[in-house]
Amino acid sequence: MSDSFQSVLDRIAGEIEATPGRGRPADYIPALAAVDPNRFGMAVAELDGTVHGVGDWQQPFSTQSITKVFTLALALAQEDDELWEHVGREPSGNPFNSLVQLEYENGIPRNPFINAGALVVTDRLQFLTGDASGTLRDFLRAESGNPDLTFDLAVADSEAAHGDRNAALAHFMASYGNITCSVPELLDQYIRQCSIEASCGDLALAAGFLARHGIRADGSTLLSRSRAKQVNAVMLTCGTYDAAGDFAHRVGLPGKSGVGGGIIAVVPGRCTVCVWSPGLDERGNSVAGVAALDRFTTHTGLSIF
Ligand code: DON
Repeated sequence: MSDSFQSVLDRIAGEIEATPGRGRPADYIPALAAVDPNRFGMAVAELDGTVHGVGDWQQPFSTQSITKVFTLALALAQEDDELWEHVGREPSGNPFNSLVQLEYENGIPRNPFINAGALVVTDRLQFLTGDASGTLRDFLRAESGNPDLTFDLAVADSEAAHGDRNAALAHFMASYGNITCSVPELLDQYIRQCSIEASCGDLALAAGFLARHGIRADGSTLLSRSRAKQVNAVMLTCGTYDAAGDFAHRVGLPGKSGVGGGIIAVVPGRCTVCVWSPGLDERGNSVAGVAALDRFTTHTGLSIF
């Protein structure tokens, strides 16, 4: 399949190039708005770390909400089921930055991938490690083998200057006692986390533990097989927000998007895929990225179904 992974990627890149309509880069974080929507990269990492790529697959981009998968895994690795007392695991059916369910549901966010839930997870990781964003960065460096992977502080500053929505979410949850750190400390950690820059190749490698049933690149165990299954399951049902049903229907893999235009997807037991193209649809998912993953599962027949 190794050779054929490369030929599938080449074929998809050609098909995407021929398809007009790429959506628009996120502009609510001004530093992200300047990115060229015509950029496109895609990488596949096999279980042994062999990587195949096409287009801009080595170009670092803003990972944003893709990081929520890694903080979830790192928090679960530290505290097991206690995390689920603070955050649910049901799809929200609402936009990623919505506040509306939080009051009805007593400050417990629906799932770890909407912003409210990701703030809770980062809060737990900060409480457990004292440096959530540094723990995340170090993990991504180790798994990708890229020692230069780091924060983009211009993106972090840009988000911090336009962060009223996340601040509202964090303060509201704190009023229910569901945040342990101070809200300013939490927002600083969360915004740094989201600002991490990485390439498709880096992220496909870093997500490899999800395809290896919880085993890290060095052979050590991050998560049990059962817990890795749980993270993949929540990615499938919640990873692309109020488009998760459509994503499952089209792609048939656990996936997690970010407003930087990246998406990671997992074929358990086989490989991980990361695609990047900054133009988004109205739900905050990369237009060309979803189309490319749709083609990937169609062309390879690899899906969890
Ligand atoms: O908190 C935010 O709004 C951003 N830092 C991340 C949102 C995001 O990536 C949603 N994904 N599609």
